[in-house]
Amino acid sequence: MGENIKVFQSKESMIHSLAEAIVDLARRKAEATGRFTVALSGGSTPKPLYESFASSQYLHKIPWDKVFFFFGDERCVPHDSEDSNYHMVHEAILSKVPVPAENIFPTEMQDVNPEASAELYEKTIKKFFALGENQLPRFDLMLLGLGPDGHTASLFPGTKALEERQRLVVSNYVEKMSTHRITLTLPVINNSENIIFVVAGHDKAPVIAHILGEKTADQHLYPAQLVKATDGSLKWYLDREAYQECQSHACQH
Ligand code: 6PG
Repeated sequence: MGENIKVFQSKESMIHSLAEAIVDLARRKAEATGRFTVALSGGSTPKPLYESFASSQYLHKIPWDKVFFFFGDERCVPHDSEDSNYHMVHEAILSKVPVPAENIFPTEMQDVNPEASAELYEKTIKKFFALGENQLPRFDLMLLGLGPDGHTASLFPGTKALEERQRLVVSNYVEKMSTHRITLTLPVINNSENIIFVVAGHDKAPVIAHILGEKTADQHLYPAQLVKATDGSLKWYLDREAYQECQSHACQH
C-alpha cells in the first residue's frame, strides 16, 4: 500500500481521521495565507464528514471567516432540490456554522441553463483567484468522491468533459442519466494543492482495485484514474470495505 492510501476499519473512523486532517489543514492554510479554499464533493459519502465540521468537536476550531466554499460539481436542479449538492452541503454545514455568505460560491442558473451556468461559474472562479489568461486556480483542498463506474466530480466515463483541457468548468451531458451536470475540469482538479478521495463501501471495492491496483490501460474507462496531482498531494481515504479487493492486487499510489 502506498503512503498516500489510508485504509480504516470503519467508515466512521475514516471520517473522523479525515475531519482531523482537514481541520488541521484549514487552520494551517488560514494562518499562513489568510484563507482556505475548498471544492467540496457531492454524493452521500462525505455527508457525515461535513456534519462533523458543524459538531461541537470542530465548530470552534475552524476559522470560518477564512474558509471559502466551492463545489467540485453540481446537479442541474434547483438548490432547494434534495438532489442538489449545494442543498446537501447547506444542510450539513453551511446552515449551522458562522461562515459569511460571501465566502460561499454555489453554481447559479444550473437548473435553467447548464452551459450558461458553467460559464458563470468559470467567471466566478477566475475572479476569486484573480486568474489571468490560461491560468488555473489552485484550490487548497479538492475533496472528491468516487462512483462505482469510476466517475469523480461529474467526470463520467465516455463523456466529453474528460477531454476538456482549456475550460475550468463545463456543462457535461451524461447519457446514462439523461442529464447535464456542471463540473470542474481535470486541469483544475489536478492543479489543487491537496486532492483527497473519500471512498467507502463494498460497492466501490471493484473500482478501487482497478484504479489503485491494475491501473486499467484505458484511463477513460475509470475517469478517477485521470486525477493526478500536478505538483500537490493526492491521498485516498478508504474504509476496509472499499479496499477489500485491493488485498489481491498490488494497490499503489
Ligand atoms: C455527485 C458527486 C459524485 C459522487 C460520487 C460518489 O455529484 O454525486 O460529486 O462524484 O462523489 O457519485 O457518490 P457517493 O458518495 O454517494 O457514493
